[in-house]
Amino acid sequence: MSDRPSFRPTRRIVFHGLGAIGVAAALAGCGGGSSEPAAPEAAAGDELAATSEVPVGGGLILSDQKIVITQPTEGDFKAFTAVCTHQGNTVTAVEGATIECSFHGSSFSAETGEVEGGPAGSALAAVAIDVQGDRILAA
Ligand code: FES
Repeated sequence: MSDRPSFRPTRRIVFHGLGAIGVAAALAGCGGGSSEPAAPEAAAGDELAATSEVPVGGGLILSDQKIVITQPTEGDFKAFTAVCTHQGNTVTAVEGATIECSFHGSSFSAETGEVEGGPAGSALAAVAIDVQGDRILAA
């Protein structure tokens, strides 16, 4: 018997630094044009990932939950909506300190979610997380 919360299998894509080139086309979640960003789909207490799944200087995109988790520096985890603020597609990569959306070329800070390059005009909203030991939970 386990006291761990149930874990939902999910599509997840891990990005280590510059190793994500070419994977954008493999990503799902490209809704193609909604202008209203969808809210992340995780309830407080849901287990999102193990800390070991989020590389330092990279990130993990949880396509099902529409959340991107980054670890800009060791032990410092950040989470944002993975729904691009341009046209609502799921962001496609984390390249070092930048979250990329290859659909139209927007980029966001992996530290703050702020826009680094358009056409997106607003930041990726932060998602509250709770790191408990080696687990990252929705808060
Ligand atoms: S949806 Fe257009 S750049 Fe992301």
